[in-house]
Amino acid sequence: MPNNNPAGERDLARPPRHIAIILDGNGRWAKKRGLPRTAGHAVGAETFRRIATYCKNIGVEYLTVYAFSTENWRRPEGEVSTIMKLLGKYLHEAIDTMERDHIRMKVFGDLEGLSPELRALVQKTDEISRRYEGFQANICLNYGGRDEILHAARRYAEDYAAGKAEGELTEERFSGYLYSAGIPDPDLLIRPGGEVRISNFLLWQCAYAEFYFTDVLWPDFTPEELDKAIAVFRSRDRRYGGVKNP
Ligand code: IPE
Ligand code: IPE
Ligand code: MG
Repeated sequence: MPNNNPAGERDLARPPRHIAIILDGNGRWAKKRGLPRTAGHAVGAETFRRIATYCKNIGVEYLTVYAFSTENWRRPEGEVSTIMKLLGKYLHEAIDTMERDHIRMKVFGDLEGLSPELRALVQKTDEISRRYEGFQANICLNYGGRDEILHAARRYAEDYAAGKAEGELTEERFSGYLYSAGIPDPDLLIRPGGEVRISNFLLWQCAYAEFYFTDVLWPDFTPEELDKAIAVFRSRDRRYGGVKNP
């Protein structure tokens, strides 16, 4: 049986090991204030910085955030290019923080679709991450859950054809071909912004995640909101298809 659950057995006083967040509601946050949608993305990037630091401080091991989906290219060109610029600026600044605080940061997604500048920054953050252990932030960028599964299937097929994938294809083995290879599945998935859907995020990995939805827009999201989500998470009974106290 696949072992989806080491976290379920953990001390309840500890935070979830892996939290995933869909960073949603930036555009509406800006619109409410009569600002261009892009202003919401800038504030949202600051919110990410604050929440990532908070997660690290309370002992969360992995934070995976959805920053730009494979579907977000459908947005107006001006918005897309502003988001890409902000991501570049963010990654650039994050390099110093990573060195200072020994933080690991990975980008999940189809890097081929990104600009050479962004790809170079991703390479740099990968290099730094190899040097450290401890808290890891994963930024999903040009990421789609279906795209990730297809990408993994293609890579597995290549290995198989090259005779490098003998033996049975198990869930565990297939997971090793995903962007999230080696990282435990998210325990808690948070979606701010009021929508109650997954929007193609971590489709494979969220098989047994606990979901938490809130109307708070991402730029307004605070450490207190995260505490609320964690409190709800702790009250959940994770059964993984089994029965507790039969
Ligand atoms: C999330 O905020 C950021 C991205 C998807 C890039 P949105 O831009 O989706 O904000 P809303 O949902 O329109 O308010
Ligand atoms: C999901 O938000 C993607 C990211 C937050 C990166 P969207 O705003 O793109 O999702 P939909 O369109 O409401 O499903
Ligand atoms: Mg949205």
